[in-house]
Parts: sequence; structure tokens; C-alpha cells
Amino acid sequence: MALNKIPLSLYVHLPWCETQCPYCDFSITTQPVDSNDVRLAEAIIKDIKHSSDFIAGRKFKSIYFGGGTPSLASTKSIKQILDSVRDRLESSSAEITLEMNPNDVSEKKIEGLLEAGINRISLGIQSYSDQELQALGRNHDRKSAIRATKILKDINTTIDLIYGIEKQTPESVAKNLETIIDSNINHLSLYQLTIEPNTIFYKKELLLPGEAAIEKMEVIAKDLLEKNGFEQYEVSSWSKPGCKSQHNLNYWQFGDFLGVGPGSHSKISNNQEIIRYRKIKPLEGYIKNQKSTDLKMISGNELDMDLAMNLLRIKNGLQHQNLTIDLPASFLKKYQRGVDEGLLLKGKIGATQKGYQFLNETIQLFF
Ligand SMILES: C[S@@+](CC[C@H](N)C(=O)[O-])C[C@H]1O[C@@H](n2cnc3c(N)ncnc32)[C@H](O)[C@@H]1O
Ligand code: SF4
Repeated sequence: MALNKIPLSLYVHLPWCETQCPYCDFSITTQPVDSNDVRLAEAIIKDIKHSSDFIAGRKFKSIYFGGGTPSLASTKSIKQILDSVRDRLESSSAEITLEMNPNDVSEKKIEGLLEAGINRISLGIQSYSDQELQALGRNHDRKSAIRATKILKDINTTIDLIYGIEKQTPESVAKNLETIIDSNINHLSLYQLTIEPNTIFYKKELLLPGEAAIEKMEVIAKDLLEKNGFEQYEVSSWSKPGCKSQHNLNYWQFGDFLGVGPGSHSKISNNQEIIRYRKIKPLEGYIKNQKSTDLKMISGNELDMDLAMNLLRIKNGLQHQNLTIDLPASFLKKYQRGVDEGLLLKGKIGATQKGYQFLNETIQLFF
């Protein structure tokens, strides 16, 4: 492949989890970390080394350690992986994020991670209410969540919260948000609980809040967060000025990403085509063989949908000069229909207020 100018991020998947949460559909394992931690790090380093065709001479714009629970991995193995790519970073201040579960947060752990090169923490709080954490089957409680939030108050941190939890009220969502607002946190991902097939929740009868309560939760969240200096810049993402996630923005702007680790996904483009592929999920299989599977060229209608599903998530749209690819004629034709219907913006790529409110329907224009 010739030198590629499309921005490239690195995603490192560390699948470790202490327990399987009943709502989670990520690629995870509850196998012991200790005996496998070093072996997985070595396989990941090998995987990156063998991906030079996909990297195509590019440096990494950002790195993201996601999971699973990357905070269960040893700091030594995180450092080893980072050491292997340090000279492949676009800038010495490139965003390097690591996901943590509250129980793993301690001053000592954070100190080690920062020394290794991590400069942003993504903390999976989900809720500050004991009742809601139990309803989600989490292995941490309110006390642990508060403690972790306090320890991270001076560190560049984003928090994940879930709303729409069984028996949750709009007032409780407000309380969760107020805890974040009162801390020094500069970024928040706010996800509505989705019931994914192949999860325990899918088979259970749950008393989930109704549509009206969900709408109320969203109105309260918008109001509280905007009043307190957070701006929504993507469907689930809220940030203080200057604190947007560079890694996630690269996904939504249709940049490339190289995924390494069991079950990780990659998207790589060049002038002719867009390729998506993944690595196998079972831990032992990946450690033995990091080859790419399910390689798929994306074009035509499928590419139009793929583009819409990413680009249109960005709130208030994207200037043409910030696009990473030339938009296909078929996409632009469908886009114009959306402009005519008042769902898509003129002059940049993005949804109008109405189009954003009904984003799933708006994306259907690109089928
Ligand atoms: C890779 S996951 C898990 C990260 C970390 N292990 C944790 O659980 O805190 C990233 C985030 O996705 C969100 N998430 C996972 N499954 C979800 C679901 N079914 N519905 C809504 N949000 C979900 C959670 O907020 C979670 O923190
Ligand atoms: S939600 Fe997080 S901790 Fe729970 S199973 Fe999924 S990745 Fe693991």
C-alpha cells in the first residue's frame, strides 16, 4: 500500500473482567489475568509489528486501551505495549486513554499508569447509587465510585454513566450528574441502557423506565450539563471546552483505526477502498494467532450507511475541510434529499436539530 494520509488511531483491546455484567456484550474473558497478562501483551506487540501494511507509513494520532477492564492488566504490560509504539506517535502530547473500573483506582496505580505514558482515564462509574449498581450487577458500590472519582479529580478523566436502569427515576439521574458536576471531571459519556441479545438481561423481565421517564431523564441531563459548562458534541458525549475525546472524534470523522487484541475491530482506508476486519475473540486463540479475519471491503450503499452512521453522530456538523475522505457521489445525492427534507445541514455535513432528534430515522436516508 502507498503512504496513506488518512489519520490513524490505535485501539488496544484488553478483555479482562472480574465478573460478567448482565448487560454487557463486549468481547471479554473472566480467565485469570496474572498468568496471561504478559503473554497477551507480547501477542499485541507482535500484532502491531505485523500490521505495517495497514499502518502504511502513518503515525498514531491517539491510543485507546479499552475492554473488558484494562485496569486489571499490570502497569508493566501497559508500559511494554506503549514502549513498543512510542516512536510511532504523531505527537508527544497525543491522547492516550485507559479504561478503569472504580475498584482498581488507587493513587499508586494512577502514578504508575501516568509514568507509563497514559494521559487520560476513562472511569466506568455507571451510577453513584447502590441500588442502581446492584440492578446493573456491578462489582463496585457507591463508596468505591466516590473514592475513585475523588482520586482522579486532578487527572484528565472522562466518566461513563448509564441511564434507564431498572427502577431508576429522573431525580436519581440528576443526582448522579450532580456528583460529576461537583467533581473536577471534564468529560462524560452518558449512555442509555441497551438490552443486547446474547446478554443475561435479554432473557430477564426487567422493570425498565418507560419512554416518558427516559425523555425526562434526557431533558434533565441536557439542562444540568449545559448549565454547568458541558457541551454535547456527539450523541452520548459531553465535554468541557477543549476536552473532547480526540480518539473518539477520529472514529466519527471517519478516520482509520488499527484494532489489536482479542475481538478488536479495525477500519483501514486508502484511495480505492475501505476495509473492515477483526481479530478472533478467544484469548488463547488470539495469543497463538493474531491474523485478521472477516476482511470486508466496504463500498456502494454499505459505505454510504457506514459514513452516515459515523459522521452524523457529530453534533452541529462537520466542515468539509475536516472530512477524512472524498464523499462518494451516491452519498451526496442521498444527503441532498435530507437537506430538502430539513433533516440535514446545508454547507457542512451534519444533522439539523430535527434530524438529530430523530437520528436513527435520518440515517435511514442512506440505505
Ligand atoms: C468497554 S465498556 C466497559 C468499560 C469498563 N469495563 C466498565 O465496565 O466500566 C464501556 C462503557 O460502555 C457502556 N456500556 C456497556 N454496555 C452497555 C449497555 N448494554 N448499555 C449501555 N451502555 C453500555 C458502559 O458505560 C461502559 O462503561
Ligand atoms: S461492563 Fe465492563 S466490567 Fe462489566 S463485563 Fe463489560 S467490560 Fe467487563
